[in-house]
Amino acid sequence: MEKIVIEGGNRLEGEVIISGAKNSVLPLMASTILTSGVNSFTNVPDLDDVRTMSKLLVMLGAKVEYDSGNLEIDSTAINNWIAPYELVRTMRASVLVLGPLTARFGKTRVSFPGGCAIGERPIDQHLKGLELLGSKIIIEEGYIETKAKKLTGSIIPFDISTVTGTENMMLASVLAQGETILLNAACEPEVVDLANALNKMGANISGAGTDIITIKGVSKLKPIKNYEVMPDRIESGTLMVAAVLLSGDLLLKNCIFEHNGAVIGKLIEVGAEISKVSDGVRVKGTDKFKSIDFTTLPYPGFPTDMQAQLMTLMSVSKGLSIISETIFPQRYLHAGELRRMGAEIKLVGNSAVVRGVKHLSGAPIMASDLRASASLVLAGLIANGRTDISRVYHLDRGYDRLDKKLEQVGAKIWRDKE
Ligand code: EPU
Repeated sequence: MEKIVIEGGNRLEGEVIISGAKNSVLPLMASTILTSGVNSFTNVPDLDDVRTMSKLLVMLGAKVEYDSGNLEIDSTAINNWIAPYELVRTMRASVLVLGPLTARFGKTRVSFPGGCAIGERPIDQHLKGLELLGSKIIIEEGYIETKAKKLTGSIIPFDISTVTGTENMMLASVLAQGETILLNAACEPEVVDLANALNKMGANISGAGTDIITIKGVSKLKPIKNYEVMPDRIESGTLMVAAVLLSGDLLLKNCIFEHNGAVIGKLIEVGAEISKVSDGVRVKGTDKFKSIDFTTLPYPGFPTDMQAQLMTLMSVSKGLSIISETIFPQRYLHAGELRRMGAEIKLVGNSAVVRGVKHLSGAPIMASDLRASASLVLAGLIANGRTDISRVYHLDRGYDRLDKKLEQVGAKIWRDKE
């Protein structure tokens, strides 16, 4: 196993190219189940989660090839509808095959994902949606079984805003008979990316990006060619925080300013200078930043996937910060590790109170989930001395060589054997 080692304190300056979005490419990969033929995608990030989704598609009968950002999925021979526990437990996004497999085969058997490190993550809304589309749902031996002769369009009112729930229902209903209307749909840019791709495949989806999405069923989808995955707004946000923390000056190429509105707004409040430039976003830090309060919310609110990274920034900001986590109330595993580095953090229910300290000090620490590991990398960058972060496989699930990108712009960061 590998660990990441960081000698803190180096200023960051230069350009970073933002990779394709993890949370966009995973549903895009699942969408190929609805086609028969060779699909291709560009700007595909090099991630463990992409490898896991590839394994799952191969297990279903697809042929998958990845080469430097280009991904080809031949879905012609998909003939299996079982997503086993071994794969689903390593990546919850595997549940995205539930909708398309039911649409293609009228049945599926997908392992129930269960809880995970960031807290309880039910999928009741996915199941309710499939039932409304006419599928039977049976839960047996830890698996969800769906059965439907033909899915039929329906009104699906989500009780809460769910990203993969919305995506799963789009994937399930594009080939259904008649019209489906998703109410209280998630508005995340990744949902829009999926709708755009499905429309290119021949689907008829309107309203993506708003909370009402209408899907008029079509009889067939054709494979998609060279679809470019949108840039990762969470990688962008993480690097923005790095620039602010290290009083740096970073040009984030390909970063879409509008996708990061809530994060940019908060970083400006902290004291950063952020501007939209022709090829991305430029972020300049100052040597004094102040504490702010923030609450995680569905898009366009402040993303839960940036909560841990901003907590690291608040750990060394001037003043007191109150963070409220409304999406995953227990997503605070990083707080304990940040405390080991000298941060003053108190957890109260789903809130964290962070009193900024003058400096963090390097320590051996352990990553617990994807975004928590990013927050620890950021902490290592600002800490005095050396930080050793173990279990970095969490980072590799969802960041495309974050350590290499940071090294390129001046960080002293490298990998070693644990
Ligand atoms: N929820 C339910 N029932 C459902 C579905 C969701 O109660 O059937 C609840 C969840 O427990 C949570 C809220 O609804 O409280 C929102 O969860 P959502 O379904 O939107 O999360 P998700 O689709 O499972 C995606 C991202 C996550 C990201 C969340 C929130 C993917 C593959 N994953 O998860 O990304 O945190 O949306 O924005 O798109 C990450 O990248 O680190 C990550 C965890």
